[in-house]
Amino acid sequence: MNKKTVYIGMSADLVHPGHLNIIKEGRKLGEVTVGLLTDKAIASYKRLPVMDFDNRKEVISNIKGVSKVIPQSTLDYEENLRLVKPDFVVHGDDWKEGVQKKTRQRVAEVLSEWGGKLVDVKYTDGISSSKLKKVISEIGTTPDIRRARLKRLIESKDIVRILESHSGLSGLICETTNVVKNGIVKEFDGMWSSSLTDSTLRGKPDIEAVDVTSRLHSLNDILECTTKPIIYDGDTGGKPEHLVFTVRTLERLGVSAIIIEDKIGLKKNSLFGTEVKQQQDTIENFSNKISVARSARVTDDFMVIARIESLILKQGLDDAVERAKAFLEAGADGIMIHSREKSEKEILDFCLLYNNISNKKPLIVVPSSYNHITEEELIKAGVNVVIYANHMLRSSYPSMQNTATSILENSRSKEADDQMMSIKEILNLIPGTK
Ligand code: SPV
Ligand code: MG
Repeated sequence: MNKKTVYIGMSADLVHPGHLNIIKEGRKLGEVTVGLLTDKAIASYKRLPVMDFDNRKEVISNIKGVSKVIPQSTLDYEENLRLVKPDFVVHGDDWKEGVQKKTRQRVAEVLSEWGGKLVDVKYTDGISSSKLKKVISEIGTTPDIRRARLKRLIESKDIVRILESHSGLSGLICETTNVVKNGIVKEFDGMWSSSLTDSTLRGKPDIEAVDVTSRLHSLNDILECTTKPIIYDGDTGGKPEHLVFTVRTLERLGVSAIIIEDKIGLKKNSLFGTEVKQQQDTIENFSNKISVARSARVTDDFMVIARIESLILKQGLDDAVERAKAFLEAGADGIMIHSREKSEKEILDFCLLYNNISNKKPLIVVPSSYNHITEEELIKAGVNVVIYANHMLRSSYPSMQNTATSILENSRSKEADDQMMSIKEILNLIPGTK
């Protein structure tokens, strides 16, 4: 008689005895094929796994009792079940409740078409991947893992969501804030080290007056207490001879990308547009900067992204597209297109044209002025990364100002209490304060 076939779907990121138990139970029933969820399938409902698909595959393939590992590219089992036609599907009984309940029902229905059976193995108490992940995040990350994560996210997610962080504390907010919507955990994927907010925080104008060494101070605070990838706002990149050192330093620290903008001379913030004197660099000069930055990298994981200011400086769509082509040709690992219009029209027009470029790389946008646009609309337009570029600082300043005013008005602080976190909360906010 042919050996029965068993299908087990899993993420197997941090393999623990619970996984081994399910495989052991599966083995008793027949030959085990593991459907290993791809990074994309996992990222569709929770945080990207710590290990990438190939690493997870290597681990799971070497576990006793696993005969075969195939990718499962959606949360839904149906496609793989029809492919394997297993006699059994084995899973922990925790999926009888909660978000996976529907998936389980569908598995049972599909299996019944050929008389297959669903076996729910008692969930191994006391061990949970989420708890293990918490421990891992307390341990931290390495520069190599963090740096590589941005590219993995871009490959795995419809859109990568980046939040501005200017301090350890705002970095922590980016690291830990999440909402659960329809069983899907939504959170920020990484951080934007903004020249505007880093300068403003220091009471300095956003004109490259805060030098790279000072910028690295804030960056270090963020690196210290977070694990998510970081995109660094490199302004104009400065002199090519200096840019080499900036790239090497950022890369060594575990930053994933630098974005440099095609402006020259005294840089002014883009959101001023043509209200102030700003000069765009020539295509030739800026292409050279991109190649210099690219050659300075040591790893393939570090991305050099070219930011095009043609729409900001009213140079037109054609100029923006011409620049995109040239900068991609010069080796840019991605393009950021910026606009300060209230309407999203010029950005969407650019996206349409950009999508036709054959060697296009990830596209990044910063919807600060056209902020009614939704992530769904950006995904449709082909955008890969959205940066919420200044929102943490912009929200903290008015709150501090209100508190200061309230103390003055009332000659005491009691009235300000409602808009602040409690003393107990601040004491417990940072582990190790006690
Ligand atoms: C920043 O955040 O510093 C940026 C984006 O460069 S913008 O302020 O819109 O120019
Ligand atoms: Mg900036």
